[in-house]
Amino acid sequence: MIIMPDEKTWPVSITPDNYPEFISKSSKHLTRKGEDLAGYFKEEPEPEVLIYEVYEAETEGHIKMALTVLKPGKVGNEFHMTKGHYHEDDKAGEAYVCFRGQGMVIMQTREGKTDEIPLKPGGLAYIPPGWAHRTINTGSDEFIMLALYPETSGHDYDSIQEKGFIKRVFDMDGQVQVI
Ligand SMILES: [Fe+2]
Repeated sequence: MIIMPDEKTWPVSITPDNYPEFISKSSKHLTRKGEDLAGYFKEEPEPEVLIYEVYEAETEGHIKMALTVLKPGKVGNEFHMTKGHYHEDDKAGEAYVCFRGQGMVIMQTREGKTDEIPLKPGGLAYIPPGWAHRTINTGSDEFIMLALYPETSGHDYDSIQEKGFIKRVFDMDGQVQVI
């Protein structure tokens, strides 16, 4: 049984087997539909289509945990993705652990450096401080990953909404292409 970090200060183990319990006990649930991602994709998504959900556990002044369920699918030939953000605190990094599915995290700095890390179950991606990050589901199943980051990170979504990501991920004749 998972004892959530908001119930008491207690070690927590979250695994590819028990993460549904984390979902059921999470204290905050966000949904992002096509209408919430208007302007993010090359083509406009259907307003009502569910693209991703985020489940958060409350923590007190240490590491926050959020589980993202990114639905499979594409908008045109662009794979489903999260909005992506920089951290307001430029000293705050993040780690993603993949539990299910297949995808990648794409990253960039404000100076224009870019990178990407493919993720499959059991894989971990480390996002250094100063790097914006977005996840993409390149598979046919749900892409599920747990994010761990300092609770004081803060989120800057506006920079991405205004300027977008330098690199995007498309299905080009059955091949995953980062362009
Ligand atoms: Fe983040």
